[in-house]
Amino acid sequence: MNITDVFPRDLFRGKALFVTGGGSGINLGIAKTFAALGAKVAICGRTQERLDGAAAELRALGAEVFAQVADVRDYAALESAMLAAKEALGPMHVLVAGAAGNFPAAAEALSANGFKAVVDIDLLGSFNAARAAFAQLKETRGSITFISAGMAYMPYAFQAHVGAAKAGVDMLMKDLALEWGRHGIRVNSIVPGPIEGTEGVRRLVSSDAVKEKLTKAIPLRRFGTPDDIGQVAVFLASPLASYVTGTVLVADGGQNLPGSGVWATLALGGE
Ligand code: NAP
Ligand code: COA
Repeated sequence: MNITDVFPRDLFRGKALFVTGGGSGINLGIAKTFAALGAKVAICGRTQERLDGAAAELRALGAEVFAQVADVRDYAALESAMLAAKEALGPMHVLVAGAAGNFPAAAEALSANGFKAVVDIDLLGSFNAARAAFAQLKETRGSITFISAGMAYMPYAFQAHVGAAKAGVDMLMKDLALEWGRHGIRVNSIVPGPIEGTEGVRRLVSSDAVKEKLTKAIPLRRFGTPDDIGQVAVFLASPLASYVTGTVLVADGGQNLPGSGVWATLALGGE
């Protein structure tokens, strides 16, 4: 299925999307889905070469693209990237806050700085992005989508830092939806399941044998794709979701339904 089989090619024509962490993985997949529907796309991340590669892929889809290095932990850098994106592409209609960090670590071996690094990127970085985007989104009556994770609402072994950060992201989402609804700004989160070919899966799924076992524990019996997440991100930003705010949209093939037990067992080295 192509996204243009379902949505009109010009759904986001003339509208600007900003994606934090848009240089790779799920976030780049989201950016590409919007680009296929006519959006202008701005991306930021910490690595110029990564942004350059992503920008080339987006331009190949016909998008006008703006890319600037900014660490989401650095409010001034992020704000400056968003203002420069506005100069280049016009005011932002959609913010996707997807920059994040993850590594598996047993809580007793995790340093305070390791915990802080993930909370700073995922939670503080999501607040920084929303706060810096507010004026533009108020102008366009736009929307925000945070990229959360199943760790936000299920405990996972070796993911205490990620769970704390992503649970914070989902509560931040609800608070902002409550406060900014009066400006016409909708705010939601997406919880992706395990997505093929991504850094997140490379870090958390240690072998093909483990992946096979994990796949059997997913009701839809497959890992997701970046397109699976791009599609729901498009839905949330589209007029089809005009009355949807303050929600967590779980796109995980049902992975959460049996709980995180299989993942915990495999992460802890059991069979
Ligand atoms: P990824 O490719 O590593 O995406 C993370 C992106 O964020 C990278 O482009 C990275 O680029 C950027 N980034 C990291 N730290 C940053 C910072 N401090 N400031 C600005 N940008 C930063 O990983 P992914 O697996 O696709 O994950 C994307 C999102 O999906 C994350 O929010 C993740 O938590 C979520 N998620 C992933 C999965 C999965 O299966 N992969 C499942 C559930 C949720 P630089 O390193 O160049 O800065
Ligand atoms: N296990 C345990 N601790 C780790 C770790 C690991 N695998 N990787 C990093 N840390 C700790 C470091 O030791 C350091 O703590 P310390 O000062 O007490 O030693 C702390 O985390 C910060 O590390 P640093 O490398 O300075 O952080 P950073 O800001 O450069 O990078 C990370 C952030 C650690 C999250 C890094 O993994 C990253 O950049 N990730 C982005 C991509 C990603 O994770 N994608 C997956 C999907 S979200």
